Amino acid sequence: SSVSHLGPEVVFERIRNAGVITLNRPKALNALNLSMIRHIYPQLKKWEKDPETDLVVIKGAGGKAFCAGGDIRAVTDAGKTGDSLAQDFFREEYILNNAIGTFKKPYVALIEGITMGGGVGLSVHGRFRVATEKTLFAMPETAIGLFPDVGGGYFLPRLQGKLGLFLALTGFRLKGRDVQRAGVATHFVESQKVKSEQPGVWERELVHLITHFVESQKVKSEQPGVWERELVHLVFLSVEGIQENLKQDGSAFAQKQAETLAKMSPASLKITFRQLQAGATMSLQDVLVMEYRLSQACMRGKDFYEGVRAVLIDKDQNPRWQPSSLKDVTEQFVDSCFAPLGEHDLKL
Ligand SMILES: *[C@@H]1O[C@H](CO)[C@@H](O)[C@H](O)[C@H]1NC(C)=O
Repeated sequence: SSVSHLGPEVVFERIRNAGVITLNRPKALNALNLSMIRHIYPQLKKWEKDPETDLVVIKGAGGKAFCAGGDIRAVTDAGKTGDSLAQDFFREEYILNNAIGTFKKPYVALIEGITMGGGVGLSVHGRFRVATEKTLFAMPETAIGLFPDVGGGYFLPRLQGKLGLFLALTGFRLKGRDVQRAGVATHFVESQKVKSEQPGVWERELVHLITHFVESQKVKSEQPGVWERELVHLVFLSVEGIQENLKQDGSAFAQKQAETLAKMSPASLKITFRQLQAGATMSLQDVLVMEYRLSQACMRGKDFYEGVRAVLIDKDQNPRWQPSSLKDVTEQFVDSCFAPLGEHDLKL
């Protein structure tokens, strides 16, 4: 195998017929920044055309995370000073998400450890996502005044029942085998096999998974996960309706979710609800165009900056949302977030 370091934050290798991408910012939980995107995209396009490359594997360095998300602190800093990173990051990230979603060869993401937000966008649109018992999946954007982007509007409404809406609004964390059971991962392997000291063990495992099309490796349906048991009877008509249902439900699970929703940005909740409703019948490309509009609406607003401040910078976990309640988030405001950007729209 040959190794080429095109940048310290992402490493590309050839292992036999596989192109292997390693996200390599372990101290930052492999958070995705613009330079990583700018390295990965052209390499992916090269491997897509290269007759010697049969598949692409993407993984994270350090063992704790596949990728904890986009480097959104840098993005909000840029938004404050009017730097173009606030547009470029989202645009180029979504273009990469689309390249993964339309990739012509098997694309295999080893989503061991934390896999959130931008990390989901690097994995979920590819053909194979391999979880381990250490996988921790979430789309936690409503907690920072954003919305579940990177094609969340496409893949979330396509999960069973209302699971995607639930994950999108609450940021609920799925762990281990539940990640596969939910349909976020396509496969499950034990972490030991992925991490084996013996070189090539996980590659062999993957090749086996792919060539045998995995039926043998698929988890037999076990006990339903907590979300399956609990969500079945909750009706989701509107964000307010969800809150009302949860409060009336009375179960400990429902109370906990109601408390979680009460902490989220009300504007984010309403944007997210409409995003998933619309995205359910749209192509991935149209969803990404819509999400780019929403990303720029968040950059124009206040909640995204306030959420990043409260969760990532000051860490007081006490964001002051504007507006502070669902009833004050008007339909007119939500409409304005979905408005076309003319010549600034995302082009795929
Ligand atoms: C991305 O992260 C790497 C490694 O931490 C850093 O060297 C680089 O400057 C960052 N790039 C951007 C655009 O933030």
